[in-house]
Amino acid sequence: METFDTSDMSNALNDVSNRKTNMNAEAAAVAREKGWVEPQGYDYSKYNASVPQQKAPESTEATDLPNVEEPEWAANAAKYEWSEEFGDVGPPNPALEKMLFHNEFTNRAGLKFETLREIKVTAESREQPKPVKSFSDAGLHPIMLENIRLCGYRTPTPIQAYSIPAVLTGHDLIAVAQTGSGKTAAFLIPVLSKLMGKAKKLAAPRPNVANGFNPHVDAVRAEPLVLIVAPTRELSTQIFDEARRLCYRSMLRPCVVYGGAPVREQREELQKGCDVLIGTPGRLLDFMDKPHILSLQRVKYTIIDEADELLQSDWETEFTKIMSGGDTNEDADHRYMMFSATFNKECRELARKYLADDHVRIRIGRAGSSHLNVEQQIIYSEENKKKQCLYDLLISMPPSRTLVFVNNKTQADFLDDYLFNMGLPSTSIHSDRTQREREDALRAFRTAKSPILVATGVSARGLDIKNVMHVINFDLPSRNYGGIDEYIHRIGRTARIGNEGLATSFYNHEKDSDIAPDLVKILIECKQNVPEFLEDAKPADGVVTFDDDTDNEGEEQHDESHETTAANIESSAAAEEPANWDAGAAAAW
Ligand SMILES: Nc1ncnc2c1ncn2[C@@H]1O[C@H](COP(=O)(O)OP(=O)(O)OP(=O)(O)O)[C@@H](O)[C@H]1O
Ligand SMILES: [Mg+2]
Repeated sequence: METFDTSDMSNALNDVSNRKTNMNAEAAAVAREKGWVEPQGYDYSKYNASVPQQKAPESTEATDLPNVEEPEWAANAAKYEWSEEFGDVGPPNPALEKMLFHNEFTNRAGLKFETLREIKVTAESREQPKPVKSFSDAGLHPIMLENIRLCGYRTPTPIQAYSIPAVLTGHDLIAVAQTGSGKTAAFLIPVLSKLMGKAKKLAAPRPNVANGFNPHVDAVRAEPLVLIVAPTRELSTQIFDEARRLCYRSMLRPCVVYGGAPVREQREELQKGCDVLIGTPGRLLDFMDKPHILSLQRVKYTIIDEADELLQSDWETEFTKIMSGGDTNEDADHRYMMFSATFNKECRELARKYLADDHVRIRIGRAGSSHLNVEQQIIYSEENKKKQCLYDLLISMPPSRTLVFVNNKTQADFLDDYLFNMGLPSTSIHSDRTQREREDALRAFRTAKSPILVATGVSARGLDIKNVMHVINFDLPSRNYGGIDEYIHRIGRTARIGNEGLATSFYNHEKDSDIAPDLVKILIECKQNVPEFLEDAKPADGVVTFDDDTDNEGEEQHDESHETTAANIESSAAAEEPANWDAGAAAAW
């Protein structure tokens, strides 16, 4: 016993109990001095605690608003619960309103919002969409207009200006617009608005949840009118949050289903009635296999977010089943919509197989482009120096919400431990984590308890987190990891909706040369500095060309193509009503 060094025992225990007490005291002191908050270990006791489902607060006076805790699972977040006694519009619920719309962690339009409106818009279709100039002129339901106001959206973004009339006039849609440009609202606003006035007629019968819910007596089958599919769990819950806001005071009841969280609670939500169903493909198909719980026979709108990802062959079986509405949907008037920031020509061609001939195609800028609000810098670093480089970079800059991308899960764990032990407030997220850990990590990042999040590609698409000021590609996404499209999505986690942000990528010739030519093209297109070590990857003739951006080729009947910018809408001929565009339908409630 005398010879055995017992300090090893406690170190070994740290390993077993999941790390994080090997903190380097000196480094931690430097991190504090630089202003980074104290790192916080993961609270494993939470696993055993049972947190009740979040209930929609009873209507209370605005002066007496309860403090509402986060729900245990994102799927259980409170929503507006309709009561049979309500007329066409439900009364306000100030406590819920505060929870939905006055959340300090929601992104707000930044100073460069106007620059989004200067990007070239291409609209191709048999009939030309007439973009809307403002939300109030768009023929939207009054409750939708009120919810848009509560969200703080003052002007439609270009994709919204085009998608609203296209959907209101009953067209299928492929919409491609840059990251952080409001695509979620671009599909939710017109679809929900169109259903708001008709929900009583179209929706399936449901229990009066306001009087309490007993699953044994009150449960109904979910028969949504809208189905929204997204590739990741966190993205689905985020779309659900936006749907909760935009459905406020309406009869439309949104639900979300996704893997990793308990089926029972998600099932119970469905059994209370569901008009708008958001989900990831796996869990969705599980429920579709139980027709007494979920039927898609009433679905009028199927929306695929991040469609180019879901059109990939790995998702083929799931995708085909979902697009066929589980074989029960016979509605001839069923509309399909696909959205993404990246949508290469091959994907667009695939997508068109699912859409009606008179569908509308809208592209804001080049499909797969980034916008100028992200400053992109590339730093040369040999593989074995990247860790130090990351530390130096973080410590040399003012503390800010920073998202660090790596290419695999082991690397994510390793880097998170490293940063944590250097006294930096990091956490991590990847697909091997339990859903509880994933939701907690994201919440800690969102609320800046852990302002550094180390993530794999699972978090590259769609996530909208306020004030992510810096995205770091610790590993660049080489072709095997999604290539340049993945790069565009990753850097798009910063500089959203007219805000600005920085994206730094570590590059070395050994690992990253396959992405170099595409990366250089993006840097040139976005007017960024091309570092000397990437000179060789520049196009030989100095001219940057991308894949052909038009979809018209090879067709007998060319669709009409129309180009403008949203900023021009007010003054240009685009504002004049094209003869064959059925604008009247938009105001036909
Ligand atoms: N018209 C608007 N005015 C102000 N803010 C808006 C408007 N429309 C949407 N937003 C906000 O902009 C942010 C980004 O929107 P969203 O997440 O829908 O972008 P996106 O285009 O889907 O991006 P990504 O390609 O990364 O998925 C959100 O916080 C949303 O609330
Ligand atoms: Mg999105």
